[in-house]
Amino acid sequence: MITPERDVQQAATESGAAVKKAAVAPLDVHDMTVAYHRRPVLWDVDLTLPDGCLTAVVGPNGAGKSTLIKAILSLVPKASGRVLIYGKPYEQQRHLVGYIPQRESVDWDFPVSALDVVLMGRYGRLGWFRRPGKHDRQAALEALENVGMVDFAHRQIAQLSGGQQQRVFLARALVQDAQIYFMDEPFAGVDAATESAIVELLRTLRARGRTVVVVHHDLQTVDRYFDHMILLNMRVVADGPTGDVFTPENLRNTYGGRLTLLDEAAEAMRHGRVDA
Ligand SMILES: Nc1ncnc2c1ncn2[C@@H]1O[C@H](COP(=O)(O)OP(=O)(O)OP(=O)(O)O)[C@@H](O)[C@H]1O
Ligand SMILES: [Mg+2]
Repeated sequence: MITPERDVQQAATESGAAVKKAAVAPLDVHDMTVAYHRRPVLWDVDLTLPDGCLTAVVGPNGAGKSTLIKAILSLVPKASGRVLIYGKPYEQQRHLVGYIPQRESVDWDFPVSALDVVLMGRYGRLGWFRRPGKHDRQAALEALENVGMVDFAHRQIAQLSGGQQQRVFLARALVQDAQIYFMDEPFAGVDAATESAIVELLRTLRARGRTVVVVHHDLQTVDRYFDHMILLNMRVVADGPTGDVFTPENLRNTYGGRLTLLDEAAEAMRHGRVDA
């Protein structure tokens, strides 16, 4: 059972080191506005996440979900506002943060193997100047094993299918051993087995006291998979426990009139009534 307002939590990392967290939120976004070429795409975002929860970020295409994550991680500039991760700016907390970008935004032609990609997850804890050692390789291979990809360890990442690439990214997140993860559409385009593997992984992370923020498009599964929810469309339309936020009214306010259409399309595809 998740208790959002734990006073003091001692979360042991896999390495045995302990990160002591007083009652400070994993993520606190205050008054954040983000613009591309002076055109705002996110307005006045205020968010506080509870500890140790799985949080979904939900909203239509172009709502600013990826931008929200990128601005939190200082990958795009903020026009205004501030972001705190466990009470401090991101720049001081990088080592606590894991990020899985949206798959389309990654350059898959980069000539590295699946194992290399996973090993990159270790650099945060190693520092850039130390080469990964035997222990790191072992951890990376175990993570690949966990996501069913160990047989592909030496395959170039470009030569894997989309779902396989996604699994490799998850393995990287696993070895990184962060406290808070941001995953941009990890479920996009994966088969049912991979989806189950990802859900399993999210639950494992939560059981270890980690906080995970996931951009998610599937309204049919969101309340089953996530404890907490942020509905976004340029602004935060609603956020809070999924049971409170996942209401037809909030969804209408987020998706506008398109919701019915989306629902019907999703339903039709589920029953194989739409030709691909
Ligand atoms: N680098 C960029 N330069 C200019 N505009 C951008 C850039 N990246 C995103 N945008 C615009 O910002 C808005 C938000 O984009 P964003 O990628 O955050 O949406 P999203 O909610 O992640 O959408 P999707 O569900 O399609 O992934 C969109 O209108 C998009 O066209
Ligand atoms: Mg996106």
